[in-house]
Amino acid sequence: MSIDAMVKRIEELKAEKDAVILSHNYQLPEVQRIADFVGDSLELAQKARDVSQSVIVFCGVHFMAETAALLSPEKTVLLPVMEAGCPMADMIDAPGLASMRAAHPDALVVCYVNSTAQVKAMSDVCCTSANAHGVVARIDPDSEVIFVPDRYLGMQVEKRTGRSLIKWPGYCPTHAKLVVEHVERARREHPGAPVIVHPESRPDVCEAADAVLSTGGMCRFARETSAPVVIVGTEVGLIDRLERENPAKKFVPLDERATCPNMKKTRLENVMAALETRHGRVTIAEPIASQARRAVEEMFASGRIRKAKY
Ligand code: 13P
Ligand code: SF4
Repeated sequence: MSIDAMVKRIEELKAEKDAVILSHNYQLPEVQRIADFVGDSLELAQKARDVSQSVIVFCGVHFMAETAALLSPEKTVLLPVMEAGCPMADMIDAPGLASMRAAHPDALVVCYVNSTAQVKAMSDVCCTSANAHGVVARIDPDSEVIFVPDRYLGMQVEKRTGRSLIKWPGYCPTHAKLVVEHVERARREHPGAPVIVHPESRPDVCEAADAVLSTGGMCRFARETSAPVVIVGTEVGLIDRLERENPAKKFVPLDERATCPNMKKTRLENVMAALETRHGRVTIAEPIASQARRAVEEMFASGRIRKAKY
């Protein structure tokens, strides 16, 4: 089937099935193009909660579809490729977090949204790369804070809030590929071009950059900057969106080998098949669902974050 025919069929199916397509910024260009909304983890979680359609086809990785399902239990959330996971999310499990909590019984637990529903269920509040520092700032300054699973994002939060966190040693294998030598080379090759990097990057890479931003923050930066060339330190899938939205500017990946294989698993064929057969439904069993939902909803709330009753 040609791309055009698939796009047409997907459009028909969307109307027929009362479906909306959400896509993360790292998805393949053709997937981003058929999506109703493209965004970062926070924007997609908000969209999933607010859309009126009864079916959400989530083009992203498993934890993102899980978060959408948590926030909208009445909707059908479909993940077109079930094997699209996040290795960082899998770096911590429930027993791992339980032993960390046992060692720090008074600490509040902040979990990055890149985590399983089970880990969220054992956390006091969730955060994304866009709001992690703001979430931690809502915790009593005298309280100990456990931060899981991304130690590098945790370090950026420490820097922005001036607080010390008890961090799980997880990381993103894709962002860990970016090293300071890439920043130095990019600055040599593109003098004057701003370097923006994702907070999942190594601390020395963040230190060497001009701005540390979520993928949504990078899209805003790209729109607002007057610089004609921008160096982008994140998964390369974002480049296509930046170019689409800012045709007069040039976006150079810090390292074009920074690809997330899981984000590239979803193809148009998979989106079409998910809509046709409604396969790939993501559901979370109770009591994990209610407990994890509480942590995600706390992220959207305001005011002091209190220790939850687990
Ligand atoms: P964003 O929320 O910044 O899009 O990041 C999600 C992610 O998985 C980064 O690797
Ligand atoms: Fe996970 Fe990294 Fe892929 Fe994001 S880029 S989904 S953190 S492995």
